[in-house]
Formats: sequence, structure tokens, C-alpha cells
Amino acid sequence: MNRDIQIALLGMTGRLGGAIGRAILARPGLAISGASVRSGSPVEGGDIGRFLTGEVTGVTASVSLETALQGCDIVIDASLPELTMSAIKLLKKMGNIPFVSGVTGLNSAQQDALIAAAGHSPVLQAGNFSLGVAMAERLVREAASLPAEDWDIEIEESHHRRKADAPSGTALLLGRAAATGRRESLDEVADWARHGHTGARKPGQIGFAVTRGGGIIGEHAVRFLSEMEEITISHRAFDRAVFARGAVEATLWMINAGEGRPAGLYSMQDVVRG
Ligand SMILES: NC(=O)c1ccc[n+]([C@@H]2O[C@H](COP(=O)([O-])OP(=O)(O)OC[C@H]3O[C@@H](n4cnc5c(N)ncnc54)[C@H](OP(=O)(O)O)[C@@H]3O)[C@@H](O)[C@H]2O)c1
Repeated sequence: MNRDIQIALLGMTGRLGGAIGRAILARPGLAISGASVRSGSPVEGGDIGRFLTGEVTGVTASVSLETALQGCDIVIDASLPELTMSAIKLLKKMGNIPFVSGVTGLNSAQQDALIAAAGHSPVLQAGNFSLGVAMAERLVREAASLPAEDWDIEIEESHHRRKADAPSGTALLLGRAAATGRRESLDEVADWARHGHTGARKPGQIGFAVTRGGGIIGEHAVRFLSEMEEITISHRAFDRAVFARGAVEATLWMINAGEGRPAGLYSMQDVVRG
């Protein structure tokens, strides 16, 4: 591609979207062609660059999703499930635009809708954009697949007090990796929360524990526990910029030097594989 890659950004006023927006503007070869904001947002009709970095870009934040997506090469979605659902309805109509989403907490109907969109457009879904988490995911799958029957798997995650969904998309991703390593379905073996007289732990369960508080950006640990020892695979993000960097890498992978990717559902595993 000889020109800048034009990116429509959803959720620009949020924590993740703001970090991604700043990373795009800082990266030569990438440009924001549009951004959607909520009706009544103080940024509505304003210059996106002025909001993100203070520098004028000439691109205006729009309440209309269709306007925000107009002329883009790819969409990066850092919003929340409701807007994700509205956006994927437009992908086909607007020419099967590639879609990169970091939004977590989709319910099963919303997840099905995203999978359906991947039937006609390239869709990359990343519960966590961090390349380190993608590595941890691989290690967890590998560790869980090793023949050792008495390891209990417990997943712990901690996030800031404003996070709205639990367990985090990353905890689910790591849980799925562990379940896949054991050739199980996470839904069948997950123990989402414990309270009261729970009885003894059932063999083969994958347990989850959630902490919410303060400004924690994101911490995850997958613990493999036997009677005698423990192995932990953990990941800690020090800076939200790690997600922004991964989102940019995912976008470049989807654009594939202008060749694009066929319709389908992709993940950060595809990005780290290259
Ligand atoms: N994949 C990753 O690496 C990663 C990392 C961190 C977070 N996340 C996930 O990314 C999502 C966003 O997280 P966050 O912490 O950035 O949340 P946030 O700060 O609440 O940001 C959400 C953004 O979406 C916008 N939005 C939501 N619904 C909208 C609607 N109907 N119309 C227009 N705009 C709408 C919000 O606009 P307003 O400001 O106007 O409300 C805001 O800009 C969550 O699902 C979170 O779990 C993923």
C-alpha cells in the first residue's frame, strides 16, 4: 500500500480506544479516517486529533457509524458490545470491511453475530491485544496438554474498579486454551465462582477467581496445582500502551501489505504466528 492505511476507530473516548488512537497517530503509514462517538459526547463534531493528542487532523468525530466507517480500509473496535453489534451490521453493506475488535463481554448471541459477520468479512477478535498474552495462551495450552492427571487448573485475574465484565476476556481466553489443551470444552469444566458449602473441588474443573479494584491495568495467572507443587504461567500489563501496540500489529496483519485476508474469524494467535 503506497498510501496511509485508513482506520475507523470505535470507542475513541474510552481508555483502550484513546490509547489505540494515540498509537495510530504516532505510527507512520497509519491514519484515522473516522471515529464514532456517542450522541451528546463533548467530542461530537470535534477534531479527533485535538481530542487524542492536541494536534489537529482535520477528521471529525461523528455520531453516525456509517459516516465514521466511510472510506476506511479497516475498523478497530475498542467500544462496548452494543456498538460492536451495530458496527458489524454495516460491514457487509459497506464492502466487507475488515474488522478488528478488542471488545470483551459479548453474550452468546452477540458472539454468534460476530462469528456470522466473519462469514463475509475478515474479523479479528482479541480478548487481549497483548502479544505477551498471546504467548501465555500458547504456553497454557501446551502445559495443559501434557500428560499429568492430578494438576488442578485455577485462573486468577485482577482489573481496575471500572471494568464491567467478569471474568475478563483474557481469563476466558486462557481458560479456553487450558480446556483445549485437555481436549475439553471450557463451558463444561468451568467453575465460575465459589460461595457457601461448595463441597470438594471436582476433578478436571477449571476454576476462576476475580479481583476488581483501584487502577490495575490487567493481571492474569494460570495456576497448575498438584498435591506437591505448583506451576504458574502469569502475565502483567504495566501500561495500557501494550494493548494499543498489539491492536496496531493486528491491524497490520489484517491489511497484509494491501493484500488483505479472506473472510474468517482470526485471533492474536494468527498475528503472533505471522
Ligand atoms: N482486547 C484488549 O486488549 C482489551 C484491553 C482493555 C480493554 N478491553 C475491552 O475493551 C472494551 C473497552 O474497554 P475500555 O476500558 O476502553 O472501556 P471504556 O473506557 O468504557 O470505553 C468504551 C468506549 O466505547 C464507547 N461506546 C460504548 N458504547 C457506545 C455506543 N453505544 N455508542 C458510541 N460509543 C460507545 C464509549 O463512549 P463514551 O465515552 O461516550 O461512553 C467509550 O469511548 C471493553 O470490552 C474492555 O473489556 C480489551
